[in-house]
Amino acid sequence: MNFTSEPLNDSHILTSFDSGKEPLDRWLRQSAGRGQLQDTGRTFVWHVGDGEILAYFTLTGHALHRGSLSRKQAHSLPAEVPPILLAKLALDASLHGQGLGGELLLDALTRCVRAGEIVVSRFVVVDALDENAVGFYEKYGFTPVPDTEPVRLLRRLKSIAADLSAD
Ligand SMILES: CC(C)(COP(=O)(O)OP(=O)(O)OC[C@H]1O[C@@H](n2cnc3c(N)ncnc32)[C@H](O)[C@@H]1OP(=O)(O)O)[C@@H](O)C(=O)NCCC(=O)NCCS
Repeated sequence: MNFTSEPLNDSHILTSFDSGKEPLDRWLRQSAGRGQLQDTGRTFVWHVGDGEILAYFTLTGHALHRGSLSRKQAHSLPAEVPPILLAKLALDASLHGQGLGGELLLDALTRCVRAGEIVVSRFVVVDALDENAVGFYEKYGFTPVPDTEPVRLLRRLKSIAADLSAD
C-alpha cells in the first residue's frame, strides 16, 4: 500500500479512523484541526489517495525543565531545554502489526530531524498512553524519564538524525 503523508486539511475524512484507542481517535476528530488553525500542534496524516485517514501524528514545540529529567539526562543542561513533543501518534487498527507503526514513527522522526536543522531541539519527547506504547517507543531507542505518569520517554534528536542518515 502506498500512503500519502501530508499535513491535515479540510478535505480529509476523519470519521472512520479507529486506532483502538478511543481518546486518540476523538482527539483527531475534535482537536487536531483546531491545533492546525491555532498553530499549537501540527498534525500529519496518512491516506491512500482517497482522503480517508489511516494514520496520524502531531508535533509541537515544548519546554522541558532540567529538574524533570534524570541526573544523566539533565547532565550540564540549562534550566530549560527545548524538545520537540511527539504529542500524538496512531495507526488504524486494521493496519497494526505489519511494521507500519514503525514507518509512521520514522515519518514523524524524519520531520523532527528536518525541523531541528532550523530550530534547535535537544530531544524528541513522547508521553506514552500505556505500557504497550512504552514498549513500542523503547524499541526505537527512547528512554523513560524516571517517575513520570503517564510515562514520558525521550531520545536525543542528534542520535535520531545519526540513525536516519546511516540508513
Ligand atoms: C503504537 C502503534 C503505532 C504501533 O504500530 P504497530 O503496527 O502495532 O507496530 P509495528 O508492526 O509497526 O511494529 C514495529 C516494530 O515495533 C515492535 N513493537 C510494536 N509494539 C511493541 C511493543 N508494545 N513493545 C515492543 N515492541 C513493539 C514490533 O515488534 C516491530 O518490531 P520488528 O520490526 O522488530 O518486528 C499502533 O499499535 C497504534 O496505533 N496503537 C494505538 C495508538 C497508540 O497506542 N499510540 C501510541 C500512543 S502514545
